[in-house]
Amino acid sequence: MKDADRKDPGGLRSARWFAPDDLRSFGHRSRLMQLGYSEADFKDKPVIGILNTWSEINSCHSHFRERAKDVKRGVFQAGGFALEMPSLSVDESFTKPTSMIYRNMLAMECEEMIRSHPFDGVVLMGGCDKTTPGLVMGAISAGIPFIYLPAGPMLAGNYAGNRLGSGSDAWKYWDERRAGNITDEEWVGIQGGIARSPGVCMTMGTASTMTAITDAMGLTLPGASSIPAVDSGHQRMGADCGRRIVDMVWEDLTPDRIITPAAVQNAAIVAMATGCSTNAVVHLIAMARRAGVDLSLDDLDALGRTTPLIANVRPSGKGYLMEDFYFAGGLRALMKEIEEKLDTTCIGVNGRTLGENIADAKVYNDDVIRPLSNPVYHEGSLAVLRGNLCPDGAVIKPAACDPKYYVHEGPALVFDSYPEMKKAVDDEDLEVTPDHVMILRNAGPLGGPGMPEWGMLPIPKALIRQGHRDMLRISDARMSGTSYGACVLHVAPESFVGGPLALVKTGDIVRLDVPNRRLDMLVPEEEIAARKAAWTPPEPKYERGWGWMFSRHVTQADKGCDFDYLQSDFGRVAGEPDI
Ligand code: FES
Ligand code: MG
Repeated sequence: MKDADRKDPGGLRSARWFAPDDLRSFGHRSRLMQLGYSEADFKDKPVIGILNTWSEINSCHSHFRERAKDVKRGVFQAGGFALEMPSLSVDESFTKPTSMIYRNMLAMECEEMIRSHPFDGVVLMGGCDKTTPGLVMGAISAGIPFIYLPAGPMLAGNYAGNRLGSGSDAWKYWDERRAGNITDEEWVGIQGGIARSPGVCMTMGTASTMTAITDAMGLTLPGASSIPAVDSGHQRMGADCGRRIVDMVWEDLTPDRIITPAAVQNAAIVAMATGCSTNAVVHLIAMARRAGVDLSLDDLDALGRTTPLIANVRPSGKGYLMEDFYFAGGLRALMKEIEEKLDTTCIGVNGRTLGENIADAKVYNDDVIRPLSNPVYHEGSLAVLRGNLCPDGAVIKPAACDPKYYVHEGPALVFDSYPEMKKAVDDEDLEVTPDHVMILRNAGPLGGPGMPEWGMLPIPKALIRQGHRDMLRISDARMSGTSYGACVLHVAPESFVGGPLALVKTGDIVRLDVPNRRLDMLVPEEEIAARKAAWTPPEPKYERGWGWMFSRHVTQADKGCDFDYLQSDFGRVAGEPDI
């Protein structure tokens, strides 16, 4: 960058903390000196916050303590001053009832900690499912320059010479274990081999989907999302993030200049082409709305119809893993393959256009990243349904289910709670046929609460023993990005608030028609109206604390489950701290 284009150090946001010759600034400077820094370390330099979601109970981010050092190395080298700060580590594996309840907590924390501290720019370190949307949503609202540093996928799993994919193979082998086909010893072996290193799930689950979306939107260094967590290239990328964020501050490259409607559309197209997790729908809508871009379910459905799925990565297609995807060229190569569908004039955090950033990208294995002429699936990963069961929409992943369910009619088998359903599916005498449509309700944003990833409802044992591994399932829950099967998810409005899913009864005929994007119960309108009139709302789930606040402010799935008061159009944005 030419010196003439650089911001004057007096114009840095942090100068308000450190520059004035007054008592308050004296205090700020003396506290940096308490940390062992001299004025030469920080005077007139961009202050870079490193928001680190490391935690000992976040197994996907266990390399982040070390990685933050790489980021700092880059920041100091480029003439910035780095300060690492812990951030709520929303982990996917251990959080009950679901990590989703805390995505907005992370978003709030991120926004408020950025706003209240003397940062000129931030590097956000995340990756495990909700951490990506949480950090990005918060940082968009805070509005200062940021780079997202994705944790990177873990190594491919392995047991006894067989490759194992996060999530997908857990579900698959669990069904085999329930069918009596797996010994205790094998089961423990699989347990030890399915997660072999630091990093996020190495299938195209929610984590890799969300980091790909963030990459495609221009918020990571180009292609950063594909680099495996333990690859030394990941360390180098960390240092590059540190170097780059310092220049972004001087250039005043704020998120509103990057996250345009075209950038959001690019991200949605890339999501469709990767075989994205269904969770992407909820998070992408929430992220876009923070940036003032009103992305709708119908927009996503339209993009899905015209974007073939070309990443042959589990749970879609033949089933390569993220390491294969990286070696095949990674996300930059995938974007090169679909370049004609993308707006290549969008700029990324490195200040270059998308076109420039993918100019030299190549596909090295065209079975992993397929050409448009030979896709894994001719449409995108997701389809949005409407009908009398889901007036505000529902989502299905046709690429991950048996095509025989695309058009299906069958009797409903309805459960009001997860424990009730779990008991029934384990009952070998349950009266159920492969044509039945299993329905779980009270699993939405308020009912779950937090839309737990229950949507891949377990196949009843009675059917498993007969050799069945899929059936049509419907809920207002989400499902893990590593899940698969004929599962209709995110039914809105949810049953807990009286959506039509609350009114369906066991035995009613339900009809799914994916080509026409319909989901209906074949029940006369007068009957539905009578059931609605007789419906009484359930007791609220929480009476205090975060859950109480969550229940009062969370929006429905089709709106991204953000809090109403955090959306960009809710009210005036608070001014910068001036005291
Ligand atoms: Fe962390 Fe899957 S559990 S990414
Ligand atoms: Mg997940």
